[in-house]
Amino acid sequence: MNAPHEPHSLGPTTVAAALRDAGLAPPDGRILLQHVLGVPHAQLGAHPQRVLTDCEWRAFARLVQRRRAGEPIAYLIGEREFYGRRFRVTDAVLIPRPETELLIDLALERYPESSTARILDLGTGSGNIAVTLALERPRTVVAAVDCSPAALALAGSNARELGALNVRLLEGDWYAPVAGMRFDLIVSNPPYVAAGDPHLGQGDVRFEPRAALNAGADGLDALRAIVAAAPRYLDAGGWLIVEHGYDQGAACARLLRAARLADVFLARDLAGSARVSGGRKDAAGA
Ligand SMILES: C[S@@+](CC[C@H](N)C(=O)[O-])C[C@H]1O[C@@H](n2cnc3c(N)ncnc32)[C@H](O)[C@@H]1O
Repeated sequence: MNAPHEPHSLGPTTVAAALRDAGLAPPDGRILLQHVLGVPHAQLGAHPQRVLTDCEWRAFARLVQRRRAGEPIAYLIGEREFYGRRFRVTDAVLIPRPETELLIDLALERYPESSTARILDLGTGSGNIAVTLALERPRTVVAAVDCSPAALALAGSNARELGALNVRLLEGDWYAPVAGMRFDLIVSNPPYVAAGDPHLGQGDVRFEPRAALNAGADGLDALRAIVAAAPRYLDAGGWLIVEHGYDQGAACARLLRAARLADVFLARDLAGSARVSGGRKDAAGA
């Protein structure tokens, strides 16, 4: 694609030419152009000869250059779909992952639609987990904690835009903002990448906040803190459900048992990778 200051060198640019010249792997070019033009996929495909204005062409060319430099599509267009809803994202938060939808399913199957559970989401980021649970279970109240003010601001705007009035945002270090409170369900997708993990230097992850990814030398620091303290914040019968790395299932099971949680389980994603673990505080629990 020509540099943005040379839009006229090849005459008017059509949708088809812009996509071809961008040279991005599909579907990246299409998604960026849809974003610039504000049109759905079908409309873009139906009008390949539509001519871009200079302004549209420049905006598209700028996004193409940033994409070529590796910036994640979600940050470039400012949104990512999660559990069928669009969440705004910025580079202050982790980009919601499809794997995390498994955590949502596991939570929803334990709490019926009429549930009035008090829910705690630790490390809420964009608010994807908290807002989804709040909307799927509208009679619950969901406390959403993060140590990042920028993440909380974004979670708040996602909650408002998606109409989740039952989300409360709290800033602080894990359980500190909810000291003395009890919950029926605690969920978390905490940072779980080990320092020095080569994945930190690859793909989209390079652009995501380190505080959303890194969790000490073995990647378990956050999970250790969250699991160990969970019994103090759970009511009898309440579940703790956490996401973790594909190779952290056994370590997580040890943490859950050491915290004297019962009915410990491990769930795998569609690819068969260990992803989510949990346990329940029984009446005799710590
Ligand atoms: C892996 S991201 C998860 C974001 C979101 N829940 C998701 O599933 O996409 C972890 C989040 O934990 C937050 N975090 C990291 N350390 C924390 C701490 N000590 N206390 C509270 N939040 C923390 C980060 O700011 C980040 O937003």
